[in-house]
Amino acid sequence: MTKFIKIVAATALLVSSALAAEYTIKLTHVVSPNTPKGQGADFFAKRVAELTGGKVEVVVFPNSQLYGDGEEMKALKLGNAHIAMPSFSKFTSLVPEMQLFDLPFLFRDKDHLYKVLDGEVGQIIRDKVSAKGFIALDYWDAGFKHMSSNKKAILMPEDAAGQKFRIMSSHVLEAQFKAIGANPQVLPFSEVYSALQQGVVDGAENPLSNFYTKKFNEVQTDLTLSGHGYLGYLVIMSESFWKKFPADLKPKVIQAMKEATAFERKAAATDDDDTLAKIKEYGKTSGKLAVHELTPDQKVAWQKAMEKIYPQFYKVVGEDLIKKAQAVK
Ligand code: SIN
Repeated sequence: MTKFIKIVAATALLVSSALAAEYTIKLTHVVSPNTPKGQGADFFAKRVAELTGGKVEVVVFPNSQLYGDGEEMKALKLGNAHIAMPSFSKFTSLVPEMQLFDLPFLFRDKDHLYKVLDGEVGQIIRDKVSAKGFIALDYWDAGFKHMSSNKKAILMPEDAAGQKFRIMSSHVLEAQFKAIGANPQVLPFSEVYSALQQGVVDGAENPLSNFYTKKFNEVQTDLTLSGHGYLGYLVIMSESFWKKFPADLKPKVIQAMKEATAFERKAAATDDDDTLAKIKEYGKTSGKLAVHELTPDQKVAWQKAMEKIYPQFYKVVGEDLIKKAQAVK
């Protein structure tokens, strides 16, 4: 879709919304509506309408329909969109410390993850984002990332050597792939499918929900359940928009966001098992995708190979912040 058609379609949608509602919140994201993030966004829209008695309408633009990576934050600054939920890596140039969350094997499990995000470390990062002129709302969840390839099974770090991997724009992710001898390449999320299909890159790292809903399973031969890194989001709002938003409606929007966060995290917690079953079924029936589990020894080898990059980021992320996150019990 050209930019012009996108804008015409968005305007048509907004005009029909405006007929019913007094205020419109434009929410933009880059993933499929049937991911946890997509479901959370739709749930938020529904709850805002309910809690405000229809006075406020949230119009959700999924799948990079309106703005893709790199465009979302600019759109919020200009007031052209009002809420976005970029993944942590997409904040790299704005708040380099956010790359903390990209560090491989940082989180022991989901319990550790939520304690970090909802505790002091999460607040420090949120404050840094607020200082850049955004309203930093809640942390949402996509899940742990797994490696995939269309070259061969990646069971040990050296299997990735020489392969080209798509990464989000993050120096940590770049260093992570270089540490295992692979070639990282930054691409927007909307271009990953075609890049994999056309061999621009050989592989990628994704949580299962993004892998399956974007049909990456169709253009990869091997998926390794490496869980080596984490993908999450910070929901942000346009500061200029929020300043002008009616004071009596603000608590209702915040309440809807609180409920949407709980809903989204629950969806993320249950989604992985269901999606993995679907991916395995696809692999079995098509005969085109093999799913690999790592043995404990293989996992240790990955951890050793990737954790080497931590000291490179002591300065940019802050050694203290890394240690603080690791120490959370
Ligand atoms: C997203 O989940 O928002 C996209 C993540 C990516 O770019 O890989």
